Amino acid sequence: MAPKRVLRQLVQPHLLDMEPYHGVDPPEVVAARFGIPPELVAKLDANENPYGTSPKVASALATCGRFSIYPDPLQRDARQALAAYAGVDVSRVIAGAGCDELIDLLMRLTVGVGDRVIDLPPTFGMYSVGARMQGGHLIPVPRDEELFEVRLDAVKKAVDARTKIIFLCNPNNPTGTLTPESAIRRLAELGPLVVVDETYHEFSGFTAAPLLDEYKNLVVLRSFSKWAGLAGIRLGYGMMSPDLVQQLMAIKPPYNLSVASEVALYASLDDTDLLLQRVRTIVEERVRLEGLLHRLPGVHVFPSKGNFLLCRFSAVPAKQVQEHLARRGLFVRYFSTPPIHDCVRITAGLPEHTDRVVAALSELLTAPAR
Ligand SMILES: Cc1ncc(COP(=O)(O)O)c(C=O)c1O
Repeated sequence: MAPKRVLRQLVQPHLLDMEPYHGVDPPEVVAARFGIPPELVAKLDANENPYGTSPKVASALATCGRFSIYPDPLQRDARQALAAYAGVDVSRVIAGAGCDELIDLLMRLTVGVGDRVIDLPPTFGMYSVGARMQGGHLIPVPRDEELFEVRLDAVKKAVDARTKIIFLCNPNNPTGTLTPESAIRRLAELGPLVVVDETYHEFSGFTAAPLLDEYKNLVVLRSFSKWAGLAGIRLGYGMMSPDLVQQLMAIKPPYNLSVASEVALYASLDDTDLLLQRVRTIVEERVRLEGLLHRLPGVHVFPSKGNFLLCRFSAVPAKQVQEHLARRGLFVRYFSTPPIHDCVRITAGLPEHTDRVVAALSELLTAPAR
């Protein structure tokens, strides 16, 4: 066996001590960790869709006879279908294995060792992972700490000749903040690529896509993981200038959109009435959850345009809140780093999930001091 030292010498220096992105564990794993029967698990930690996929997805997958054939490397039909859904020209669209793959491809295309990537924390973790993978410098420009709005003047100051991308998550995961069009215009005028991640677009109802005609350096990313419940299938897409699409097509793995993803895409787009009705139901549940949480002592809920709520706890440590909920089968996301180390993010789930979360929190927060 080769000595470890030699293997380390083969790895690119900037990747040697790479911190992995900590994704969420599967439900069986978390249930086993806390000794919870699987039927009691409410998975409210990854903003997944509690209603699952459209029923049309399962039947389309069951009857698809093309799994032994490679998918179309040019994604012809899929791009047409996505363009029609999003209301943009097909030349502007590229699909991928989740929004994550498009983030990765954009990084690979533009960021070299020593280039700068601007991140607006607290935000989605994959932008910083992607920048580090390329050997880029991550330049965090923290959002304001009250409402988590983007500090445009600070972003402007942070941009220099080596800045390749500014990542804007909109609405922002995990804070729920929506950045308005006027601010996106100001970012787009700064010069670097502005990547607007609209993974939660269907919940917010907002999009920067109409600005694509005006700004060649604007990219809008979307996902089918949340609104269409396809997180496990892996399906996302990007909208951008046709030139940039061609550049990405040239570097993407040829078969990045699997046949199963394509089948699930068409079945979902054939059932948008049902899926968008579910989106409305989830938004109503988020509003109900927010109202109930407001009534609890020591809880501050940040306004959210996503399918989740960021909640700050002033009377008990957030880690304790997470563990208290986990022991009852309610899995929410805890963040250990400031300024949200005293917060948990709760995905809007089924009505019964809301009731269980509120009852458990009420028990924790209103229990007489011992
Ligand atoms: C803001 C944001 N972008 C991208 C992703 C990843 O999306 P996908 O499942 O399409 O890769 C997530 C997943 O939670 C997210 O919250």
